Amino acid sequence: QQLDLELAAIEKGGYDHFMLKEIFEQPSTVFDCLRGRVDAANGTITMAGVEANIDILKNAPRILIIACGTSWHAGLLAEYIFEELCRTPVEVEYASEFRYRNPIVNKGDVIIAVSQSGETADTLVAIEKAKEQGALIFGIVNVVGSSIARVSQAGAYTHAGPEIGVASTKAFTAQLAVLTIIALKLGYEKGTLDNKRFLHLMNELQDIPEKIPAALNQAEHVKQLAYKYKDARDFLYLGRGYNFPIALEGALKLKEISYIHAEGYPAAEMKHGPIALVDENLPVVFIATKDSYHEKIISNIQEIKARKGKVIAVITEGDDVIAKMADDVIEVPAADELVAPMLSVIPMQLLAYYIGVAKGLDVDKPRNLAKSVTVE
Ligand code: G6P
Repeated sequence: QQLDLELAAIEKGGYDHFMLKEIFEQPSTVFDCLRGRVDAANGTITMAGVEANIDILKNAPRILIIACGTSWHAGLLAEYIFEELCRTPVEVEYASEFRYRNPIVNKGDVIIAVSQSGETADTLVAIEKAKEQGALIFGIVNVVGSSIARVSQAGAYTHAGPEIGVASTKAFTAQLAVLTIIALKLGYEKGTLDNKRFLHLMNELQDIPEKIPAALNQAEHVKQLAYKYKDARDFLYLGRGYNFPIALEGALKLKEISYIHAEGYPAAEMKHGPIALVDENLPVVFIATKDSYHEKIISNIQEIKARKGKVIAVITEGDDVIAKMADDVIEVPAADELVAPMLSVIPMQLLAYYIGVAKGLDVDKPRNLAKSVTVE
C-alpha cells in the first residue's frame, strides 16, 4: 500500500492530481501533436492519413463528426473550422443518437470519429454502422491500437500521452490541434483557403504551444476565483462562434469535477431562456476573447450586468473594455480566433479543477463517472 502511494505520487510528477498535471502538460502535448505535421516555415502539412485519402476527403459531399462528451465538443468546434476553411457541410452527432435513429449516410460521405480512449461503446457501434453504409471512417484517437483506431480505415493519433484524470483536458486540446491541421490541409487542397491565410493560420497554430504557458500562469489567480465562487449553486457559461463549444466544455468540466450545476449556451441565445435565471447569485462565465464577435459579446455582458449577475470573463490580454465591465477577468494571450479556443479552454479547466479541490472532492475520480464508457 505504501509502495502504491509512492508510485502514484511519482506518476503525478509533483502535482497534487493527475488532472492538474495533465492541464500543465498541454504546452508539450500540443507541441507533440503538431511536430512533424505542421511546418509553417516551409508552408507544408504532413499527415499520412489525410494524404492517402485526399481525393475522398476533397470530394466528400458531407463530413459527419461522431463523438461523445468532451470529444463531441472538439467535434462541434471542428464544424465551425471545417465549414469556414473547407466549405464542406459538416454535421456533428452524438454517437448515441446517431446509432439509434436511421441516419442518412450517402456514398462518399466521410465520418470523422473523435475519441480519447478509442473504446467508447456508442462511438464504436455508430461508426461500424456508418461503415456498413459505405462511408470512409477517419478516426481521431488518443490511445494507440484501441478499438476505434482499429475499425477506422484512416486516421490520425492525437499523441497526448496517457490521460488518467477522468475529466478530459489535454486530450481535448490535442483533438482540436489535429482537427485544425486536417481542416487546413483540406482547405488548401480544395482551394477554399488561400495561400496567405493558410500560412498565417499555420503560424498561429504553431505558436499555440508557446502561448499556453501564459494561460497556465493564471492558475493562482483562478484558484482565488475558485474560492470566491465555489458555493454558487449554478453557473452559466456563454460564448459565441468558435468560443461557443468552449462554453459547453467549461460547463461540462465544472459539472464533472465540482458537481455544481452548470449550463453552456450560445451567448446570444441566452435571451431565450437562461436570462430568467440571472440574479446576484448567478456567476456567468463569458468566453470573450477578441474575435469577430467581440462587440456582440460586450452587449451580452451588459445584459447580464444589468440583471446583477456576476461576470467572470475570459479575455484577451489587455482588453480594458471588458475588464472594466466584468467582476473578474482571466487573461489569455492573443491568437487568431480560429485557434484561440486552445487557449481559452485552459482557464475553464483550471476553474473546474480548483473549485473541485476547494470543495474537497476527488477531482481525478469524480463520482459516477468513468474514464471510458464501454456500455451502450
Ligand atoms: C467519458 C469521459 C469523458 C469523455 C467521454 C468520451 O464520459 O469521462 O472525459 O469525454 O467519455 O470519451 P472518449 O474516450 O470517446 O473521448
